[in-house]
Amino acid sequence: MTLPEAVKIVEVGPRDGLQNEKEFVPTAIKIELINRLGAAGLRNIEAASFVSPKWVPQMADGAEVMAGIERVAGTLYSVLTPNLRGFEGAQAASADEIVIFGSASEAFSQKNINCSIAESIERFVPVAQAAQARGLRVRGSVSCALGCPYQGDVPVASVVGVVERFAALGCDEIDIADTIGVATAEQTRALFRAVTQVFPRERLSGHFHDTYGQALANIYAALLEGIEIFHASVAGLGGCPYAKGATGNVATEDVLYLMHGLGIRTGVDLSQVVAAGEFISSAIGRPNASRAGKALLARTQSAAASCA
Ligand code: HMG
Ligand code: MG
Repeated sequence: MTLPEAVKIVEVGPRDGLQNEKEFVPTAIKIELINRLGAAGLRNIEAASFVSPKWVPQMADGAEVMAGIERVAGTLYSVLTPNLRGFEGAQAASADEIVIFGSASEAFSQKNINCSIAESIERFVPVAQAAQARGLRVRGSVSCALGCPYQGDVPVASVVGVVERFAALGCDEIDIADTIGVATAEQTRALFRAVTQVFPRERLSGHFHDTYGQALANIYAALLEGIEIFHASVAGLGGCPYAKGATGNVATEDVLYLMHGLGIRTGVDLSQVVAAGEFISSAIGRPNASRAGKALLARTQSAAASCA
């Protein structure tokens, strides 16, 4: 398969990236981060979650965040909705897309959303129907598609089964998520080969965490299977509250560097994302986890010093 000419990058830093932060990140910081990412050209930003604040306290200010951002025309602002209550919040906040999230691992489903895979799909039926009735896009996210912190290996057939159920719910897009960042390249290729048999390739995305440093290799493997949508998190922010030890998503800066190096268009200004990565890393007091981001900053600083 030849590589695509363009890909869509879904920026998940403001949600997946920040949800695991122990200290509450002020709403104004979340808003500024989203605004900077929109200004950089990211056309799909996962901005908030409408989940139980008892389960994920960091996302409790989703309504305020959505009300405070400056919307860039043509940009989709997505939010997570685990149930109808979450959907009502998403609708009131004028979200463009809702995300329902199930797992390919029974054990993870219980830890993350407190029900079985089958129960979660049942719970998503009215959520998807309500969204479709109001013209909102629906994205389905399949967690632990390439490994689970509780059960270990996850059979390909389990992933295909959840994708089929999400497809039956009418999902516009489906994410294949390596929640704990354990996958390797051939495993990724084999999984996408199987999943593309049951759902259109151009509406599947790859969501890779970078725990074992394999995310870029896995993205390249997915590109070779024709995948054209990838999730990434500015400055490599993140982790999952229900997947201990998992590090952040692959850094957006690193994915952009890879894509641009391959001659693949993203529509995103890398230097503005690098600046957004520095902004959020210093705002939350964390080292910037993007290799490309740090390298580009060092280059800019040394160029500035040699001019001085
Ligand atoms: P539960 O405790 O089984 O259900 O939670 P509940 O109905 O008893 O609700 C508990 C409390 O939360 C109640 O409040 C509800 O009213 C309230 P109380 O009566 O005790 O005062 N509540 C809500 N509040 C606000 N918004 C809501 C809402 N729903 C209930 N929507 C539930 C079940 C699904 C709600 C809970 O387990 C939950 O919210 N889980 C979310 C977990 C989560 O957000 N995880 C992280 C996202 S997934 C992820 O990161 C993976 C992904 O990135 C891909 C990847 O990498 O794999 C997508
Ligand atoms: Mg994730």
